[in-house]
Amino acid sequence: MTGEFDRAIAILNENDRGGYTVPTKGLYPFQWNWDSCLTALGQRHIDEGRAWTEIETLLDHQWPDGMVPHIIFHEDDDGYFPGPATWRTGRPVPTSGITQPPVLGFVLRRLFEQAHDRDLAHNRVRALVAKAAAWHRWFADCRDPEATGLVAILHPWESGRDNAIDWDGPLAAVPRDGVTAYVRRDTEHVDPAERPTMEEYDRYLWLVERFRSMGWDNTKLHDASPFQVVDPGVNAILLRSEEDLAALAEDLGETVIAAAARERAARMRAAFDTLWSDAAGLYLAYDRVSGRLIDSPSVGGLLPVFAGSGNADRLSAMAATCERWRSGVSVGVPSHDPTDDRFEPRRYWRGPCWLIVNYMIADGLRRHGFEGQASVIVNDSLDLIRHSGFAEYYDPTDRTACGGCRFTWTAAMVLEFLAASVTNAEDI
Ligand code: GLC
Repeated sequence: MTGEFDRAIAILNENDRGGYTVPTKGLYPFQWNWDSCLTALGQRHIDEGRAWTEIETLLDHQWPDGMVPHIIFHEDDDGYFPGPATWRTGRPVPTSGITQPPVLGFVLRRLFEQAHDRDLAHNRVRALVAKAAAWHRWFADCRDPEATGLVAILHPWESGRDNAIDWDGPLAAVPRDGVTAYVRRDTEHVDPAERPTMEEYDRYLWLVERFRSMGWDNTKLHDASPFQVVDPGVNAILLRSEEDLAALAEDLGETVIAAAARERAARMRAAFDTLWSDAAGLYLAYDRVSGRLIDSPSVGGLLPVFAGSGNADRLSAMAATCERWRSGVSVGVPSHDPTDDRFEPRRYWRGPCWLIVNYMIADGLRRHGFEGQASVIVNDSLDLIRHSGFAEYYDPTDRTACGGCRFTWTAAMVLEFLAASVTNAEDI
């Protein structure tokens, strides 16, 4: 076990650029939003001060409207596309112009409540709580302008599950023509069979160019976007973060922040029901443009266990769906139902296992009494790194390592899993 702990620490150190950590060398040379938040969870096992810094650096680049961008381009690096010259967001330090799953509130509470250095935690957390609250308000204002209770993503990259099958239908409505000629860099680092297709890329860029032409004005982008999708994954992560932010703010005596977060969370909880599918045993994404639920059983629909969305029957149904998927592959959790014809075990978010998703699902299952199922997921995750190293993602049918290697958030999740197993053993 020490060996794995040390290997994970070595990866975090090697990808550490001072105040922020890159997801992996080469493929992703900047700071990514939810990567950094989840990375801080791993860093706290090495150095709590460094974990707080990771989040502070991310939030130093929050936009005046409250949005926390999905990439911060701290340094020039032409090994990645699309870079600052494509986004042109006009920020002092260049950033992208879209956001990512808001796991920050959850992470802040965990960092704070489990901190060994209480003084340090008190000193560092308060400013971050206010910034997280501003980001959550931004989500409600700019991504749910009709106050439905659920927020939309305007670009597949905002889901963090870039090329999930969930987006195929809504993305087909996004034009491809007129996109400025470009050269992809990702497929120079990774086998193209494990990455999104050219057609998807054209549409991703069309959206970027459209939003750029509107000056990245978030008061207008939602209604102007041909892609508006309610992802149960993003909404579940936001709901959990709202409730964790509320609890944390209450602890700190920030009653105004806490009350607002509770109110938004209550609206979300009520609205979640509209996404439930009995047939699939999970939540489905909703296409706000066509007004239809999207028939795509993906892990985005299981992430609501992380937020405890739904009653006990729904939670049991999601736990059962997770087990059913697991029985069709060698390790879980696949990012898409392996019995669906569209399942592709090596193509990015269309089938492979991702340790960050495993972490959130296992956390939710454990929290709601599904201890056994949670342990299966944790054991599968550790089995993957023992067998195939700290990859970006893995083929769930045969454990092949896919995408980038020596990956930061994979290492961070391993530290979390191992540290929790030590704590549990001490409790016994
Ligand atoms: C890919 C993933 C996204 C992640 C980023 C950096 O774009 O889909 O979720 O944040 O890589 O690791």
